[in-house]
Amino acid sequence: MNHISIHNFIEGIPKAELHLHIEGTFEPDLMFEIARRNNISINFKSVDELKKAYNFNNLQEFLDIYYAGASVLIYEQDFYDLTWAYLTKVHEQNLVHTEIFFDPQTHTDRGISFDTVIQGIHSALEDAKEKLGISSQLIMCFLRHLDEVAAFDILEQALPYKKWIAGVGLDSSEMGHPPSKFENVFSKALDEGFITVAHAGEEGPAAYVWEAINLLKISRIDHGNRSLEDDQLIKHIAEKQIPLTVCPLSNLELKVVDDLKDHPMLQLMEAGLMVTINSDDPAYFGGYLNENYIQIAAALNLSKKQITDLAKNSFKASFLSDVEKEKLINQVEDYYQNN
Ligand code: ADE
Ligand code: ZN
Repeated sequence: MNHISIHNFIEGIPKAELHLHIEGTFEPDLMFEIARRNNISINFKSVDELKKAYNFNNLQEFLDIYYAGASVLIYEQDFYDLTWAYLTKVHEQNLVHTEIFFDPQTHTDRGISFDTVIQGIHSALEDAKEKLGISSQLIMCFLRHLDEVAAFDILEQALPYKKWIAGVGLDSSEMGHPPSKFENVFSKALDEGFITVAHAGEEGPAAYVWEAINLLKISRIDHGNRSLEDDQLIKHIAEKQIPLTVCPLSNLELKVVDDLKDHPMLQLMEAGLMVTINSDDPAYFGGYLNENYIQIAAALNLSKKQITDLAKNSFKASFLSDVEKEKLINQVEDYYQNN
């Protein structure tokens, strides 16, 4: 025990990621490469100039740039390359399982077929299983700034690919777009056998988290930071052990918190909640999964035991089978005992 640094301990521990937007892994170098081969011009002259624009005051300022970046993705190969780049990156970080969001409406609204998007992503996930030993699930998000009719339409398009999609989620601009707006389409998705999750309480109030739980019947809350404003809500989430997918560097970059030292993660853990650490949109927020662990661990002075609990939670809160969960949680415990 205690022979390696926290930094090395984090790098080596087996872990899962449960809140990751594949379009948010689009690194500027790859974006320029794909734009060039697709003959699309980007509004920025160079990778450096683009990176300088990554300076956000809120969620919407980020989303505007994120959707612009995704617009260079045209062919199945582009979606494959995007997904494969993420998978090889996190393979180096001892990530063994990932549950990936994708935003089909961002692409179908530009005339790209649902088939093109999902075939590219799915092929990369298959290759990752075989060549890197990384298991995965896909979660299709509805864009909440669009209406529920559009969400029904994309759900219909997804049905032929049901075997490749574990669940549906809700993302994009939160304020003014409460979960209640999507109650009917989530009900239909549940009837079709999809698990449900939703972004709630990132910028929006605790009331949105209640709606996500009561109306959308979610199995996990994405972010959930503002739950702390409602004691009854925290009590409920703790009792039901509804997991929270917390994203420290995202919260810092989108000014949900001013400083990682003020991040509510410890308060959430101390309230008995099942908290997990995730990277959200790593190409935009300055770090992949390990950087999120390393920076929040430094800011909050986390112990190896707390890191171990967070890594175990990443498997407990996943959509893996109970048998797989137990195997991976035991691996984490062995790692802790030996390091
Ligand atoms: N889409 C990509 N990242 C997101 C986030 N952090 N919140 C809402 N929608 C998103
Ligand atoms: Zn997110």
